[in-house]
Amino acid sequence: MSFCRVALLLAFTHIAYTAQPSAPEPVAAPLRELPWAQLNFLHTTDTHGWHGGHLQEPQYSADWGDYISFAHHLRKRADDDGSDLLIVDTGDRVEGNGLYDGSHPKGLYTFDILGEQQVDIMTVGNHELYLKNASENEYYQTVPKFKNAYVSSNVDIQNPDSGELEPLAPRFRKFTTKNQGIRVLAFGFLFNFKGNANNTFVEDVKNTVEEKWFQDAIRSKDVDLFVVAGHVPVRDSLEYDLIYKTIRKVAWDTPIVFFGGHTHIRDYRKYDSQAYGIESGRYMETLGFLSIDGLKASGKASEVTVASTPKYQRLYIDNNLYSLHHHSSTNATTFPTEKGTNVSKAISHARSKLALDHTFGCAPRDFWLNRAPYPANDSLLTWLEDEVIPDTFSNATDPSIIITNSGAMRFDIFKGPFTTDTTYLVSPFTSGFRSIPDVPYKVAAQVLQVLNSEGPILQDFDLEAQNLVSMRPPLPRNAELRPTGAIDGSNAQLPLSESSKPTIPGYTTSDDAGRDGDDTIHAPIRFYDVPNCISAAVKIDSTSEDSLPETVDLVYNEFIQDWVLLALRYLGKKYEVAETKEALDGKTMTSVISEWVGEHWVCEKDIGNAEL
Ligand SMILES: *[C@@H]1O[C@H](CO)[C@@H](O)[C@H](O)[C@H]1NC(C)=O
Ligand SMILES: *[C@@H]1O[C@H](CO)[C@@H](O)[C@H](O)[C@H]1NC(C)=O
Ligand SMILES: *[C@@H]1O[C@H](CO)[C@@H](O)[C@H](O)[C@H]1NC(C)=O
Ligand SMILES: *[C@@H]1O[C@H](CO)[C@@H](O)[C@H](O)[C@H]1NC(C)=O
Ligand SMILES: *[C@@H]1O[C@H](CO)[C@@H](O)[C@H](O)[C@H]1NC(C)=O
Ligand SMILES: *[C@@H]1O[C@H](CO)[C@@H](O)[C@H](O)[C@H]1NC(C)=O
Repeated sequence: MSFCRVALLLAFTHIAYTAQPSAPEPVAAPLRELPWAQLNFLHTTDTHGWHGGHLQEPQYSADWGDYISFAHHLRKRADDDGSDLLIVDTGDRVEGNGLYDGSHPKGLYTFDILGEQQVDIMTVGNHELYLKNASENEYYQTVPKFKNAYVSSNVDIQNPDSGELEPLAPRFRKFTTKNQGIRVLAFGFLFNFKGNANNTFVEDVKNTVEEKWFQDAIRSKDVDLFVVAGHVPVRDSLEYDLIYKTIRKVAWDTPIVFFGGHTHIRDYRKYDSQAYGIESGRYMETLGFLSIDGLKASGKASEVTVASTPKYQRLYIDNNLYSLHHHSSTNATTFPTEKGTNVSKAISHARSKLALDHTFGCAPRDFWLNRAPYPANDSLLTWLEDEVIPDTFSNATDPSIIITNSGAMRFDIFKGPFTTDTTYLVSPFTSGFRSIPDVPYKVAAQVLQVLNSEGPILQDFDLEAQNLVSMRPPLPRNAELRPTGAIDGSNAQLPLSESSKPTIPGYTTSDDAGRDGDDTIHAPIRFYDVPNCISAAVKIDSTSEDSLPETVDLVYNEFIQDWVLLALRYLGKKYEVAETKEALDGKTMTSVISEWVGEHWVCEKDIGNAEL
């Protein structure tokens, strides 16, 4: 009897969603329409392993299988009305989610899942190149799976068999679109990345654009559209500015479209009236849509010639089934395709093999990284500073000051189950803690302040030479700068007529085309600035001057070791790396947090059944 009920529920769940079975149902919200045109693009970037979607955020709860179904419907629409659809991904597909990071070796399940999408242009990100074995996965798996799509204009890899350096994939790709006969020349770039393992080579873009093959390619006569795809921000990037200028020098009026990534934001930039670029966010939250009307299409499929300047439009689609059904004119019954459903199932299967739903405890409320002020009760950093770190180091033998950077945290914690999956999202970094013993208290006590006011260090030391990493979490740039209460006024074509006041918080992007780019009309989210670092003190009695210790152990997250040593030097104490030692038995922040959660956050009895 109870088995039947479960089966029935599951069957129903599948009709209703097709996203992951445990994904929350999307919430209806006012939508803007897809600006469908002659040539249409769907774009993902910086998915970082989130191919199962967001299981605690209804707004982004569709998965890669749903994306496959969605693309199928749009491709069919293109075939039906004689337009074209191209699908682009610009890298950082790996690292940052249990679906990728949770397997041994990493990515065991991801490559086959990704490979089911029909992609037209694909490029590499920096995260595919940090480790030799990760880039070899590109070589052995992703490049062959997407062999007609992968483009690598400035990245080489050492052939694992011969040891010879060779292009990771072809330098460029020339093709004619299926229905319109638009002749496309596509490049695939990575920004001037230096942190790669030594089996790959990233050519500086300023050298690449001088190379003969590039100069020849941009002089091709038979090109209707240049596509520059890459793991490069579309704005404030020397790389794209240079590529744009170089192409314009020889092809002053050929339309260009840029697809970018890396900075995790939604953005759309006008380079000139015939050159635009889109960046489509992060973590499978966004499916970027860009369309062009009025392109010259002198390929074989048709002979359309349009004299006027092409029209470019964009829409950032929230990746949830409500949006995907709407934009593909389908419903829960007609949306899922066999292939999409297969892929959603493969993701569920992988998640269960990896036990990503294993629960350590349940968060009593939401904790925000940037969406709450610091300090505050609902600040993730306050929670770390007041509870997790003091408890974890409570058995320290000596007085200690423990410092960690805010960038060690990557994501918010939502009320409810804190699972294995959550650990990968919240703190995916594998570095542990280190300590410097017997640092004079007066010096150690000032380190936090120095780290939080980079100014003095910046002036006194040559930061470029130090090659220091950022201590903070990256922020969605466009969103957080909006003042609170500023609600987007333009609300053309709302399917939900009565609700013109948005209630669902989310992206309220402002870009070069205005403020109407988000498909879902959101209430703005307020982002708060947080300090570079936070600290906690244990076994230090600060009730009076006399009770203070002479010296303390200065403990810190290994990730910021260079910064800490620099701060100490600034304060007049020089320590060498050799004087530091491992702390907490090499335990990482990730395990510190999950152990703390296991001990302190109990779940309600029957929470385990909640997922059905
Ligand atoms: C690469 O090697 C590291 C260290 O041996 C391992 O933890 C990781 O799973 C490997 N990653 C991939 C993508 O194979
Ligand atoms: C590349 O890096 C590996 C691992 O760090 C090192 O053993 C090797 O010597 C390096 N090779 C070259 C050519 O620098
Ligand atoms: C979905 O659309 C199909 C075709 O338009 C229709 O027959 C069906 O009743 C719809 N189903 C739901 C659940 O709305
Ligand atoms: C879906 O999976 C089934 C069962 O494994 C398989 O027979 C079928 O060919 C798959 N369909 C597609 C379109 O991949
Ligand atoms: C934080 O929580 C404590 C204890 O629950 C409560 O007394 C205090 O008022 C809260 N502070 C804020 C700013 O919400
Ligand atoms: C106590 O010390 C051990 C060993 O350093 C450590 O693993 C543990 O997490 C510490 N904290 C607690 C609360 O036991």
